[in-house]
Amino acid sequence: MYRLFRPILFRFDPEIAHDFSLSCMRLAGASPALRHLLTWLYQTPQKPVNIFGLTFPNPIGIAAGYDKDGLAWRGLSCIGFGHVEVGTVTLLPQPGNPRPRLFRLPEDRALINRLGFPGKGADYVKKKLMGWRPNNFVLGVNLGINKDTLVEDAAEDYRLLICIFASVADYLVINVSSPNTLGLRRLQAKHTLDDLLLVLNHERVNQQIGLNRSVPLLVKLAPDLTDIELDDALDVILSREIDGVIATNTTVTRRNIISKDAREPGGLSGAPLRSLSTEMVRKIHHRTQGRLPIIGVGGVMSVDDVREKLDAGAALIQIYTGLIYEGPGLGKRVMRGLSRF
Ligand code: FNR
Repeated sequence: MYRLFRPILFRFDPEIAHDFSLSCMRLAGASPALRHLLTWLYQTPQKPVNIFGLTFPNPIGIAAGYDKDGLAWRGLSCIGFGHVEVGTVTLLPQPGNPRPRLFRLPEDRALINRLGFPGKGADYVKKKLMGWRPNNFVLGVNLGINKDTLVEDAAEDYRLLICIFASVADYLVINVSSPNTLGLRRLQAKHTLDDLLLVLNHERVNQQIGLNRSVPLLVKLAPDLTDIELDDALDVILSREIDGVIATNTTVTRRNIISKDAREPGGLSGAPLRSLSTEMVRKIHHRTQGRLPIIGVGGVMSVDDVREKLDAGAALIQIYTGLIYEGPGLGKRVMRGLSRF
């Protein structure tokens, strides 16, 4: 079905097409009848994963960036994915970078984005996450800093965001790896990351006491870290009792890209990122001797790509660009493929 529909969608500006698909999922999520219909159409085999003290109904989820403002997650929970990561959410609303800022690279089955965290801000998103929750489904929230926040003040933005979202999210992610917010990725450096995670872990513990349940805290890493930078970041992450890592965000590298928009600045996602992010998963798994749960993300377009990342050590998998090229049935197809083995 999607193969027929995709050429029409691809005639529109990528952001308009995205807003359209998000609106469809938002409407579907708001209607019990449509939710039932979608759940029936997209029935997927269960393959529960117990991790961070949570039970994910299956290992496949939707990555951050797809549902930035928490508008469509209830609809997305009906199409075969076991979790959705809403965000990146910033404390205050902001417009993001000027358009155009999202590009399709069809020959490479990739996207380049330099959105720069556009969004309606934390208070708005929190309201969207309150109220009815689907059963058997995990909701993550990915946190970032505003454009105007000095990197030196980043800890306070993240800390306040943890306070706001701890009660409505199943897990929280500290995003220090988006390439489109100036200076953000510097937070991955050893001492800066250590200072940051000291404060954030402390706040997480406070929240856990108040809520009387665990609040898993994850860190999302860039695929462009050198081996030394990665080792340093992992040392800090383990010592500050972070529950897991998400590997990886988009890359600023451009290897063997043939599409005309290859030189657009921003983060590259999709097929060309696949092996880079899988190698990160493998290194993290190896260096932490499997002690740190990993969510693998980057270039997943098929069940074979999922298996590759699971074999490299990922416990869960997330998808974004694959949805644009393969359609909403990708989760179901992948889960059916996985359950055959
Ligand atoms: C993203 N990604 C992203 N990640 C994040 O942590 N916060 C965000 O706000 C966004 N925004 C965003 C927008 C767009 C348009 C894209 C394509 C991607 C990164 C995303 O979550 C994922 O890590 C990468 O895209 C790699 O996975 P895929 O897309 O290759 O499956």
